[in-house]
Amino acid sequence: MNPDPMHNEEIAADETGTALVASLRASAPYVHAHRGRTFVIYLPGEAAASPRFADLVYDIALLHSLGVRLVVVFGARPQIDTALGAAGVETCFVDDVRVTDAVSLGLIKHAVGALQMDLEALLSTSLASTPMGGARIATVSGNLVTARPVGISRGVDHGHTGEVRRLDTTSINAHLARGHIVLLSCIGYSPSGEIFNLRAEEVASAAATALSADKFVLLHPGAAMHERFADTPPGLAVEAARALMDRGDTPLSPADRARLGAAVAACQAGVERSHLVSFESDGALLRELYSRDGVGTMVAGDRYDDIRTASPEDLGGVLALIEPLADAGLLVARSREVIELDIDHYIVTARDGLVTACCALMPYPDEAIGELACVAVHPSYRGQNRAAALLDEVEGRAREIGLDRLFVLTTKAPHWFIEHGFKASSLDALPVAKRALYNYQRNSAVFIKTLTRR
Ligand SMILES: CC(C)(COP(=O)(O)OP(=O)(O)OC[C@H]1O[C@@H](n2cnc3c(N)ncnc32)[C@H](O)[C@@H]1OP(=O)(O)O)[C@@H](O)C(=O)NCCC(=O)NCCS
Repeated sequence: MNPDPMHNEEIAADETGTALVASLRASAPYVHAHRGRTFVIYLPGEAAASPRFADLVYDIALLHSLGVRLVVVFGARPQIDTALGAAGVETCFVDDVRVTDAVSLGLIKHAVGALQMDLEALLSTSLASTPMGGARIATVSGNLVTARPVGISRGVDHGHTGEVRRLDTTSINAHLARGHIVLLSCIGYSPSGEIFNLRAEEVASAAATALSADKFVLLHPGAAMHERFADTPPGLAVEAARALMDRGDTPLSPADRARLGAAVAACQAGVERSHLVSFESDGALLRELYSRDGVGTMVAGDRYDDIRTASPEDLGGVLALIEPLADAGLLVARSREVIELDIDHYIVTARDGLVTACCALMPYPDEAIGELACVAVHPSYRGQNRAAALLDEVEGRAREIGLDRLFVLTTKAPHWFIEHGFKASSLDALPVAKRALYNYQRNSAVFIKTLTRR
C-alpha cells in the first residue's frame, strides 16, 4: 500500500489501474518529444478571472515538471479595465489599442503587479493535498522586454502605450537553463527608463519568435477557434488562418483576432506551430500537448501546406506525382480516368497551386476498414512530415466515417508505415473485395493500423 493517500485514491478509482497505465503510456512519446523544448504560453487576463485559473496554472506547472522550458506571458486586460473603471478613468482605444495616459499607467502597474503576485502564489503552492504536491518551482521576471512608444498614430498620441522593441533572450535562456519559469507581462521598459503598457499578445508572439520557441500556445476563452467556423479543420496553414481573420462574417471577438493574429505572426516569423487552446475546457492544455488528437486549433508554420480533398483541377498534379513512382515500381500504376473517377477519395497537400503530396482513402464501410493508397510526396518536399500530416488527416477522416482500421499495401516503404503505427498483417485481414483484386505478382506486404477513438 502506498502511504500517499492521493495515489491510493487514484488506483482505487480504477481497480486494476489499467486506464492509468494506458494513458501514461499513450502520453510517453509526447513527454519524450517535449522534454527540453521551449514553449511560450500566453495566458490572457480572462483566464485569471475564470474559476479554472488554479487548475490551469497547475497544468502549466506540470509541463514544467515534465521538462518543458516555459515562458509564460500573461495579459491583464479585464483586470486593467476593472481598475480603470473603479477609478472612473475613461479609456480611449484606437484600433483596439489602449491609449495610456499617466493616470492609467499608475493603475495598470497596480493591476499587472497584483496579477503577477497571484500567479506566483499559485506556482509556489506545494501542499501534498494539491496537484502541486512536491513541486518546487522558481519563477523569474524582470526588465526582460525593451519597449518603445507607439507615439502618435492616427493623429492620437498614445502616451505610455508601447510596442516591443526587443527581448533579452540571453537572460531568458539563462533563466530557462537553470530550470526557472520565466514570467513576462504586458509591461516593457525603454532605455530612457520609461515604462510602457504593451499588448500582451505582441509580447508573447515576440517572445516565441525571438526564442525560436518549439511551440507557442495561446489560451483563450470560449469554444475552439476553428469550431466557430463551418468546415474549418483544427489544423490550419498560415494562409488559411489569415483568411479566417479576413472573413467579413468573422465570429471572432477583437481579443480572439489579436490572439489568432499573434499565432499567425509567430508562424510567419519561423515558429513551427502555434496552438490556440480554450482554457474553459478542463485539461485542454495537457490534452493538446500530450495526446495525438489535440483539442485546440493549430496554426502550422510555412513549411506546412494546405491539406484538402483533391478537386478535378488537381488531377494533373496528382498524376505528375504518381506516374514516375509507378514507372519505378513504387506505386501501382493508375490511369488518368481511374484517378478522375476516384478524385473525391484523394487528399492533397498543395502550396501555391503545386500538389506537393497526395494519398487516397478508399473506404470499405461494411468491414469498417479503409485503404490508405497512393501515398506520394513530391521529391523536393520529402522529409518534412508531409506524409505524416496526410496520414493524420486520413485517420481523422476515417474515424469520422466510422472506420476502425486502415490498411496499406506496400512494397518499398514498410518501415515508414511501421514507424507510424501500422503492424504487419496478412491477406486474410483485407476486406473481401480487395482480397479478390490482390496482385500476387506484385506481392505487396499488408500493414494495418487500428484507429484510436478521440
Ligand atoms: C514514403 C514517403 C511517402 C514519405 O514521405 P515524407 O513526407 O518524406 O515522409 P515524412 O516526412 O513524414 O517522414 C520522413 C521519414 O520517413 C523516412 N522514409 C522515407 N521513405 C521511407 C521508406 N521507404 N522506408 C522507411 N522510411 C522512409 C525518411 O528517412 C524520414 O525519416 P528520418 O526523418 O528519420 O530520416 C515518400 O518518401 C515517398 O513519396 N516515397 C515514394 C512513394 C512511396 O514509397 N509511397 C509509399 C507506398 S504506398
